[in-house]
Amino acid sequence: MRRPIIAGNWKMQKTVRESVDFARQLMIAYAAESPDRRVIVAPPFTSIYAVAEVLMGSGIHLAAQNLHDKQAGAFTGEISAAMLVDAGCEYVIVGHSERRTLFGERDDVINRKLRAAISFDLRPIFCIGETLEEREAGRTFTVVERQIKEGLNNFAADDIKPIVIAYEPVWAIGTGRTATAEQAQEVHAYIRTVMGRAYGDTLAGLLNVIYGGSVNPGNIGGLMAQPDIDGALVGGASLDVESFVRIIQY
Ligand code: 13P
Repeated sequence: MRRPIIAGNWKMQKTVRESVDFARQLMIAYAAESPDRRVIVAPPFTSIYAVAEVLMGSGIHLAAQNLHDKQAGAFTGEISAAMLVDAGCEYVIVGHSERRTLFGERDDVINRKLRAAISFDLRPIFCIGETLEEREAGRTFTVVERQIKEGLNNFAADDIKPIVIAYEPVWAIGTGRTATAEQAQEVHAYIRTVMGRAYGDTLAGLLNVIYGGSVNPGNIGGLMAQPDIDGALVGGASLDVESFVRIIQY
């Protein structure tokens, strides 16, 4: 049985004060919630420690939005897995499409970041997804399969267990244009098939594959009704407590 995950990716938004206020309000709203789903927030780096202090013991989990693959050293401007664990993170988003397209992260870099995360017991939320051009060229399955294989290159079954895969079609991110529940389900099922071929159906059946791209309180129910959609990675609609809680309560 896969427990649904609802994660909010705040991207480059919210000051420390705004983040702390959000966390406090979310705790109040979430306290009444059933514990049958896992709620995660991913604030910007500057807010992580302050939010961790607020959320301690709340059952709400913390993610970072990126990491560097090296443990420490002369890498100006970068943050390591050990630092994220120290600040209170349990999860880290790796390979988000904005990192891939705006910051040139390729599959080999993402592979090293995934490795760094799991070696520090940080659970990666590993993002994959095709562009509009790739979808229109009929290459969706080929692209996500390549991203999975190269991202998880040299990963054994034990390495896979902590990973959450997030399918985020690039054309649906921040555009208001969600994939239909059926379009998302088709790709999620394919992702599970690819993982099953590589690591066996039992393990693939336990993996959380979550969807991201213009998720909102109105479309979450239809997405979550699909058999292979195990949660959501929410951008814009996670920035407001009320709308995020409505998504959590889908
Ligand atoms: P939106 O929900 O704003 O489309 O963003 C999705 C996303 O990129 C989450 O990581």
